[in-house]
Amino acid sequence: MVNFGIVCLLLPSLVAGHGYLKNIQVNGQLYPAWQVGSDDYITPAPVRYARRILDNGPVIDFTTKNLTCNQGGNIPSQGTISVKAGDKVTMIWDQWNSAHSGPVLDYIARCTNDDCSSFKGDTGNVWVKIGQLSYNPSANPKWASDFLRERGAKWDVVIPQNLAPGSYLLRHEILGLHVAGQRMGAQFYPSCTQIKVTSGGTTQLPSGISLPGAYNPDDKQGILVELWRIEQGQIGYTAPGGAVWSGAAPNPNRSGP
Ligand SMILES: *[C@@H]1O[C@H](CO)[C@@H](O)[C@H](O)[C@H]1NC(C)=O
Ligand SMILES: *[C@@H]1O[C@H](CO)[C@@H](O)[C@H](O)[C@H]1NC(C)=O
Repeated sequence: MVNFGIVCLLLPSLVAGHGYLKNIQVNGQLYPAWQVGSDDYITPAPVRYARRILDNGPVIDFTTKNLTCNQGGNIPSQGTISVKAGDKVTMIWDQWNSAHSGPVLDYIARCTNDDCSSFKGDTGNVWVKIGQLSYNPSANPKWASDFLRERGAKWDVVIPQNLAPGSYLLRHEILGLHVAGQRMGAQFYPSCTQIKVTSGGTTQLPSGISLPGAYNPDDKQGILVELWRIEQGQIGYTAPGGAVWSGAAPNPNRSGP
């Protein structure tokens, strides 16, 4: 039951322009992520397939552990999505506003002992980048997040073809750069979906990056940047988090940077 008082408290946090991961689709099946604005009021907590997200805003301080799986406490979800290596996983946002331009980044981490119920991914070099699109001045639209918006706020991530079976967290993130010209102004919107790869190959993940840790507030290539200077061609742009792993599959919907 959502009463009127709660609705009044709720509305200011649902700022237009921001967004959150709402559903995940695999092989035609739709799996709900944490429903911001309503799931917090349902008892017992509903079965969801991505970890709790507090609100639709960005992570306030991306140098803290809130960066790992957003500001919802990094609570393991009750549901886990079964996938096969090579499957396409579609990340569906509630909406995405074009004014929040920036790259879209996808990472995967294997849960220690294949037990995601006790894995947070907030220490160690556990995150391996398996997808990324950022800025391509000769594409239309130029920014990955604007491309996501044009696709109906959807994004496809392909599970690497030869990935070994096991339990993993899939971390999907938009980086909004509209106020990134000021230090700590970069807006990260991450989510963590729990997946179990039921069949695949023998490839183990290499070591990756740590989140938090790898995103440097003073990174002038990807984090402390002025959007307009990039768009006017005055400076280049390199998304944070390093290169995409060579074992990852190409983005099925757009090639290039
Ligand atoms: C993480 O986010 C929550 C919710 O906004 C906040 O209460 C908490 O202080 C944050 N933690 C850190 C370490 O910034
Ligand atoms: C990616 O392209 C495929 C093939 O054209 C299409 O079916 C799918 O809906 C696209 N995905 C997104 C997220 O736009």
